[in-house]
Amino acid sequence: MNHLEEIRAKLGIEEVVGSYIQLKKAGRNLKGICPFHNDTKPSFTVSPEKGIGYCFACNTGGDIFKFVQLIENVDFPEAVRILAQRANVSIPEFKPEAHNQRMKVVEMNSSSVKYFAEQLQSSPEHKKYFLDRGLTEDTIRKFKLGYAPDSYNGLKDHLINIGYRENDILSAGLLNQRSIADKNTYDRFRNRYIFPIFDHQDNAIGFGGRIIGDGEPKYLNSPDTLAYNKSLVLYGLNWGKDAVKKEDLAIFVEGYMDVIACHQAGCKNTVATSGTALTVQQLKLIKRYTPNIAFAFDQDSAGLEATKRSIELAQEAEMNIKIITVPEGKDPDECIKKSPDMWFEAVKQATPVMDFYISYILRLHDKNTLDGKKEILNFLLPIIKNYNSEVEQGAYLDKISLALRVDVKLLWNDLKNLTIKKSYSPPTTNTQEVLLKKAYSREEFLLGFIFQYPDLYKLVDENLIDSVPLETGTEKFYKAIKKVYNRASAVDLDAVKEELDEEDRGKIEVYALLIDDIYPDFSEESAEKEIKLFISLINKKNIDNAEKELIFKIRSAKDSGESTLLLNQQIQISKLKTKIF
Ligand code: UTP
Ligand code: MN
Repeated sequence: MNHLEEIRAKLGIEEVVGSYIQLKKAGRNLKGICPFHNDTKPSFTVSPEKGIGYCFACNTGGDIFKFVQLIENVDFPEAVRILAQRANVSIPEFKPEAHNQRMKVVEMNSSSVKYFAEQLQSSPEHKKYFLDRGLTEDTIRKFKLGYAPDSYNGLKDHLINIGYRENDILSAGLLNQRSIADKNTYDRFRNRYIFPIFDHQDNAIGFGGRIIGDGEPKYLNSPDTLAYNKSLVLYGLNWGKDAVKKEDLAIFVEGYMDVIACHQAGCKNTVATSGTALTVQQLKLIKRYTPNIAFAFDQDSAGLEATKRSIELAQEAEMNIKIITVPEGKDPDECIKKSPDMWFEAVKQATPVMDFYISYILRLHDKNTLDGKKEILNFLLPIIKNYNSEVEQGAYLDKISLALRVDVKLLWNDLKNLTIKKSYSPPTTNTQEVLLKKAYSREEFLLGFIFQYPDLYKLVDENLIDSVPLETGTEKFYKAIKKVYNRASAVDLDAVKEELDEEDRGKIEVYALLIDDIYPDFSEESAEKEIKLFISLINKKNIDNAEKELIFKIRSAKDSGESTLLLNQQIQISKLKTKIF
């Protein structure tokens, strides 16, 4: 991977754009007020899948680099530098500076890890906390657990003594400043149990500090620093990545202690999101090791909601998902403390997503009342409708029929009659209106469809009359596509890109996003209809133009020979017209 790819892999377009403008989900994309023109309704569309953000009202946007260039008003290298820093990626030209600064933080963290661990080892009273929670001496050492003394300058003095500067300690997130007015600093972590956090390459990047007893916050974490960004980290991956690869499965839990308890019990393919909602970047990170994940979140309502959200995110990332129901206690840590065997059994019994949804909704509504049944079915049937195989649908309907005591035939009926409601309705789906409103031509729309559904290109190849010139500007795209299609009998977008020059390449995603933008939640089936419509619109326009031109030529024909020839051509065109329409 080169550094540009690395930055792209770490920073989703939604994250980059989202840090400048507020984004809301709209179908599989996100929308926000466009920062590039005087926007009143959310016109800026962001596609995590395509990696671009674009406004079709003012025709501005692009990938993360282009977006930063535009919004920060900087050139490409500067945009790369900004994003590299944000992604903690060292770029060759700037390597010494950026890399060293990050490594300095990591080094300082490592010294702090040692310091906190020594404090714990020299305090039997505090070590007892971890031992009482069921951890062994080996586990305490392996996870480098520690204790931050009840002091305002314990760590600060230690780090200054071994040569670090106060300012650097501050920017590593290990000190707090009293206030904006009073710049005096003091230890951030005081009288807390310390869980050092490592990235997957084993760099000490930050800390989680658990309060002793009850209080808020229960866990105090490092702030974002050059080394630490909580949405990029999976706690435990450094110790677990080999097991994740070997088992071809990653188990996601919520907390530090859950990871440690799992690993100690021998279930080493476990990582934690550490309390934050699962992020796209965390999924990307785990995808390097396995496409299979299982969620084992807490058995409370927050955990259930987290599971539901995470499923949606992971489905978008096309991962294979299972759900582990923690059978005892509120989280895996408590379950393992009661019985490791029970935990292993639960992992083995991990269920498909649909089973989770069924038990999730059955908890929320009373299946014995009519209203309850309605709510339950309103939630489940659209999900089941999304499964393509009737066998699968049948299996789930059987389950629901049993749980709700409803005749399965009635459920089949409801399912058949169900039209999936769109989660987001576009302002207009009338093709003609769309054409009028947007400054895009029919040819461009059709290109969008081809790029969004390359498999449907054969419809275009078979039906589009391209003996007449297509709209200028789009012809090069059609030529490139046709060339690739003729060569491989399929449209591979990467191959199409190779046929285009630098500037046009980026337009592929933009055209595809145009379709997404106007037809969110579009099915391949409706796409086919719409493609046919556009083909006929283009054909009609082109033939009409050709005919008009002929009529003009016939009128000004010099002799009868020439006019007969032209008349013949006109008859040909008329025939073509009746055949097509
Ligand atoms: P939980 O509240 O479930 O805590 O938070 P826990 O892991 O079970 O903690 P113990 O067992 O009582 O010690 C789950 C995770 O969410 C993050 C931490 O990573 C925690 O492990 N968290 C929680 C925070 O970052 N801050 C908080 O204030 C609370
Ligand atoms: Mn716990």
